[in-house]
Formats: sequence, C-alpha cells, structure tokens
Amino acid sequence: PKKTYVLGIETSCDETAVAVTMDGNELLSNCISSQMEIHQRFGGVVPEVASRRHVERITIMIQDALEQAGIALQDISAIAVTQGPGLVGALLIGITAAKALSLTTGIPLVPVHHIAGHIYANHLVRPLQFPLVSLVVSGGHTELIYMEAHNHFECLGKTRDDAAGEAYDKVARLMGLPYPGGPPIDRLAHVGMETYNLPRAWLELDSLDFSFSGLKSAVMNVIHNANQRGEEIQEANLATSFQQSVIDVLIEKAMRAVKKTGVKRLLLAGGVSANRGLRSQLQARCDQDGIYLQIPPIELCTDNAAMIAAVGTYQWWAGNEAALTLNAEPNLKM
Ligand code: KG4
Ligand code: ZN
Repeated sequence: PKKTYVLGIETSCDETAVAVTMDGNELLSNCISSQMEIHQRFGGVVPEVASRRHVERITIMIQDALEQAGIALQDISAIAVTQGPGLVGALLIGITAAKALSLTTGIPLVPVHHIAGHIYANHLVRPLQFPLVSLVVSGGHTELIYMEAHNHFECLGKTRDDAAGEAYDKVARLMGLPYPGGPPIDRLAHVGMETYNLPRAWLELDSLDFSFSGLKSAVMNVIHNANQRGEEIQEANLATSFQQSVIDVLIEKAMRAVKKTGVKRLLLAGGVSANRGLRSQLQARCDQDGIYLQIPPIELCTDNAAMIAAVGTYQWWAGNEAALTLNAEPNLKM
C-alpha cells in the first residue's frame, strides 16, 4: 500500500519547526530552529521578534526537513500546519508558508490544533490506544483532554488563568532566574526542601479546571516579605515548595479525570512534561493506581513539527482539508 508522507509546519511560538512523518507514526525528520537565546535577554517571548525570526528561518527549515527525510516535495501527501492556538503573527508565518507550498504544488493543506499535536508526540513513540486521558502542560496550556478515538478530543478541564509553564516562567522571573523558567526551577527543586507553605488551588470539589495565578502571587509575597525584613530567600527551598504545589494539583486533577472517565491510560504532553519531579511523582501515582502512563521523550515534549505532522496525517485520512483561505486562530478551540 502507498505510504502517507506528511510535511508538518509549526510556528505557533518561538520554535520554527518542520518535520516529515510516514503514516503518522514514523519520524523521518524533525528540524527545529529555536529562538530561545534571542528571547532570553527579554525574559520572555517577544511576539514581533518571533515573527521576524520565523520569516528568516521557515524556508530553510522546510528544505532541511525534506532533505533529511530523503523525500521529494512531490511525494508529500499533505502539508499539515498549526492553525492555533498561539501568537497570531507567529502562526501566520507557518500558515503562509504552507499555503504558498500548497498553491504551487497542489498538495493539500491540513489544519492542526497545537494541543492535539502535543498529545500526538506520544503516538510517535507508541501508537495511541483508546480511550485515554491526556494532561497537556505547556507554556501556553494546561488542559485535560479525553480521547475515545483518533481525531476526537474532549476538553475536561483547563486553566482559568496562567498555564503551568507560564507559572514556572513568571516565578523564575520573580526569583531572578533565566527564561524559560522550568529547567532552572526544576534543577533547584531537586536539591531543596519544601519549607515554604504555598497554596494549592483545588477550585470546586468536582472541578477539573486549574488556577496558578494565586500560587504566583503567594511566591511574590514570600519574596516581598523577605526583602522588607532584609532576609535572604532560600532559593532552592522556594523552588521546591513552588514545584510541589504545581505537581500536587496536576497529579490530583489528572487522577480525578482518569477516575471520572474510567480510562486506564494517561498521557503526559507539552513542555512541562520535561519536569523531573512531575514525571517521577506521576509515574509513582499511576503505578499505585494501576494506570498505564505514557510520557514522550524530552525532545518531543517541547514544541516540534513531528507532532503536527502526526496529527495532520489522521486529519488528512479523515478528509479534513483546508481551503487556501485558511487563517491563523490564536484562540482556536479543540
Ligand atoms: O510546549 P512548550 O515548548 O511550548 C508551549 O507550547 O508553550 O512548553 C514550554 C514551557 C515553558 O513554560 C517552560 O518553562 C516549560 O515548558 N518547561 C518546564 C521544564 N522544561 C520546560 N517546566 C517545568 N519543568 C521543566 N523541566
Ligand atoms: Zn506547545
């Protein structure tokens, strides 16, 4: 049977990424051009700067991805591109590149939801088995998604304010740590102790939503009070305390979602799933509760285009083709 080769394009934030997959589960190339160093000196992603960098990199990345995959453009079955959510200016660069390619080659265009992409990063390692619940934790999202089949996504809960990764980035900034804040806090948390009493937002009893802004404010107060008293902050201990607050809520809500839907499979996805504490504690909890946990390797946790190509393959097989009027949707719903 004929193989399906999909070219994936992802520019929703600060990575210019292009990849090629075969039949939605085999990775042929996965090219990522990160802008992290550029944004680091601003302490966060500057949208205008991100867009301009995507423009500079996108064509080269498309060439690289095809070359590394050893696939000619005319053998590509579909071009999958992140339609949203994300930064509108950044999304538009990937979408415009995808449309231009589609227009000149006649290869169909397939729109992909970025969060679906994060979930499908797992599919590149081991085929998804349904039903499942996925906890997607990234710089822009904290969501619990139920899936009973390919292309079927149901949002069970999401953050009402900051995303988990956003909380890491903001707290790191308060603590004078570099951007992105996840890795340095994760490292510090590993050597500290939970000495600060920080809040956990459980919300309503049966809610699967999240809230992290209160936790961020609590950390701000700790730092502010210490400054006023002329006391030193115990940096590692504050990192440990903050991280444990985040992890406790993420794990508890994920397990509630698993229980509520009766599934036996939990998937972790998104940039924050690189977190060592979250990985090990969630694994321990799943072992205890008899739940099969799948976590993608670190390089597939953060933004990449392989995950977009994987979703795009299933969307293409389902006949979800976009017209050339496709536009960026910064707040795209699942
Ligand atoms: O998925 P991703 O690359 O981009 C978005 O779609 O947002 O996630 C980036 C986020 C950042 O907020 C970063 O601080 C966080 O993932 N992150 C981590 C770790 N590594 C990256 N958060 C906690 N612990 C980590 N080890
Ligand atoms: Zn992402």
